[in-house]
Amino acid sequence: MKKLIIALVMAAMPMLGFAAGGKVQLNHADIDLTDQESLQRGARLFVNYCLNCHSAKYQRYNRMARDLGMTEDEVKENLMFATDKIGDTMNIAMPEAQAAKWFGTAPPDLSVITRARGSDWVYTYLTSFYIDEKRPFGVNNTVFPDVGMPHVMWKLQGFQKANFSGDEDHRVFEGFELVEPGEMSAEEFDAAMLDLTAFMTYVGDPIQVERHRIGVWVLIFIAIFFVLAYLLKKEYWKDVH
Ligand code: HEC
Repeated sequence: MKKLIIALVMAAMPMLGFAAGGKVQLNHADIDLTDQESLQRGARLFVNYCLNCHSAKYQRYNRMARDLGMTEDEVKENLMFATDKIGDTMNIAMPEAQAAKWFGTAPPDLSVITRARGSDWVYTYLTSFYIDEKRPFGVNNTVFPDVGMPHVMWKLQGFQKANFSGDEDHRVFEGFELVEPGEMSAEEFDAAMLDLTAFMTYVGDPIQVERHRIGVWVLIFIAIFFVLAYLLKKEYWKDVH
């Protein structure tokens, strides 16, 4: 129920984002939730770069192990830094009040963020930090103007500048320009952010892949049952006509 309420409240948020951000084209997140290796790479990025500030408190490590095709030991060794109990959820140690003081806003739990904002929004957000000296952390974001989050992946992406046309009040985003390269090329960084978005989309609805798989079997069952029912009907009625 709590999860539902959070999802509903957050579902209203994209509109607020758009209202504040003007029209920024979202890039399509072409993710594949059946690609376990992509999800594993995304999980690694998530625990290394996001889990210090954001929790995903509805996600259990052991469930993730099962869904992502990893053993519990692999998860314990590579993905668990905040706890040593495999049955724990992805919580963080940072107290919310402290975080709010540091960043202006407490970093929200990311369990259902892709359902609230959409995967395309999250993917575009992650690739859209740009240099803005006027902001406390020196960066801003085209899809989340005046965001309180620092550019935590600057080492990977480097720093980019955003080009705008128009005047201060009605500026139109034209594109990014990389001014300081990071460890990854632009293509590598985009691919990494797709993996991360895929992982967060999985976390938002962990049973989605299983549901589709079961759904296919249900349809096959219904199809076979239909044939049997039809043959039975014919058998029953054959003496009547
Ligand atoms: C240093 C702390 C910190 C780290 C690390 C961090 N974030 Fe954030 N993040 C924040 C804060 C603070 C906000 C709230 C920004 C605001 O509301 O202005 C935020 C906001 C967000 C939002 C927007 C939430 C909304 O309101 O819709 C998303 C999505 C997000 N972060 C994803 C990530 C991902 C993915 C990572 C890992 C790559 C990450 N963050 C790492 C501090 C952090």
